[in-house]
Amino acid sequence: MSEDALGTENAPSPELFDKIVNLTKRRGFVYPSAEIYGGFRSTYDYGPVGVLLLRNVKDAWWRSMVQLRDDVVGLDASILSPPQVWEASGHLANFTDPLVDCTNCNTRHRLDKLEDPKVCPNCGARGSFTEPREFNLMFKTQAGPVQDAGAVAFLRPETAQGMFINFKNVIDTTRVRPPFGIAQVGKSFRNEITPGQFVFRTREFEQMEMEFFVHPDEANQWYEYWCTERYQWYLDHGMPAELLRLRPHDDDELSHYSSGTSDVEFLFPWGWDELEGIANRGNYDLTQHAEHSGEKLEWYDQAANERWVPHVIEPAAGATRTAMAFLMAAYDEEEVKGETRTVLRLHHRIAPYKVAVLPLSKKVELAEPARALAKELRNSFMCDYDETQAIGRRYRRQDEIGTPYCVTFDFDSLEDHAVTVRERDSMEQERIAIAEVGAYLRERLV
Ligand code: GAP
Repeated sequence: MSEDALGTENAPSPELFDKIVNLTKRRGFVYPSAEIYGGFRSTYDYGPVGVLLLRNVKDAWWRSMVQLRDDVVGLDASILSPPQVWEASGHLANFTDPLVDCTNCNTRHRLDKLEDPKVCPNCGARGSFTEPREFNLMFKTQAGPVQDAGAVAFLRPETAQGMFINFKNVIDTTRVRPPFGIAQVGKSFRNEITPGQFVFRTREFEQMEMEFFVHPDEANQWYEYWCTERYQWYLDHGMPAELLRLRPHDDDELSHYSSGTSDVEFLFPWGWDELEGIANRGNYDLTQHAEHSGEKLEWYDQAANERWVPHVIEPAAGATRTAMAFLMAAYDEEEVKGETRTVLRLHHRIAPYKVAVLPLSKKVELAEPARALAKELRNSFMCDYDETQAIGRRYRRQDEIGTPYCVTFDFDSLEDHAVTVRERDSMEQERIAIAEVGAYLRERLV
């Protein structure tokens, strides 16, 4: 049995995966991109509900990595960049995957991902592959109207280099001193040979990366620290421990400059796969950019009168991939009064809407005060409002998009100035004074 197959008995089934992909389309999480033109090769658009989910994943990351810390600052670097950056980083020479063509059915495959490197997974032919060639994953484009060599630009394949090339700017313009980090969330682009498994591997995706600059002698301890922190982040946001593991890389998986890398992995229907890598990158990146740019990229410790090139610990996560894992982990079905209830048990910080206001009837005497309550709650939370269909069906719809609380405004509300608040997971209901609803929710949704 392969290492990857070990301990996979808890994996969500392929049927469950199909159900979740279905739900994401039906409820406005994710649409195939350019669908009215037949779709466009593994690209996806995030719909009205999905955009909230994805934003919440990124915000939760930013909150714990930047907002709650005094040793990490943020950055938003450009996506377009000149070849020099990628020459220095090593991506122009090394950011490649081995590509083989099947001479029998003319399909292309990534050699290192094939179950049997001799057999074509499309047509089953044996020994039909061409010699492997290295295929560079970067998207090349041109900046400006003239197509000469000076116009060549690349879409970044990772956000990380933005932090390295701004290292000097950040230390010159802020009060940071090592150990400190620079964090960034944004789009990256890779011309993947075999994108797939829904939004797991796409050519356009979002990353959440942080480069943490430390004294060389402290690199190992900070590496351990960030492995623990990052693993815990997923647990804190509702990932069940049995679907999550931290896997240290074997020596033959490490890049030449890395002295340690661990992946946070999620148990997908196809087995354990990566959500995030935490790498001890040494001083490789700063040294490379210093050599290629001619700038000094080092730290001067005035008190000790010492200069040194910081080592870097890099937690690098995928936002789109993580959003998908949260959906998979949260999906649940249960029997309620003879019917199947589908519910996304998302952590409240990740849930797209925090609350939905549902007047029992759309008659104006209920709809008007219910709309007023929704308007007030919107000052603090993403709040949905729905007055169509029977109340039971509206609850089910909110369950399916993971809304933690539903507030029902009924005819009694006009008399007792209270509403019924229903909690998603337990379906328990409480009568709460209208004036108290905001405080009640704030206490539970921190
Ligand atoms: N700077 C280091 C770096 O980019 P990586 O392991 O190549 O490391 C980090 O990428 C994370 O970005 C991955 O763990 C994964 O979550 C996400 N990612 C990478 N390629 C992706 C793709 N094609 N589609 C979706 N997410 C991807």
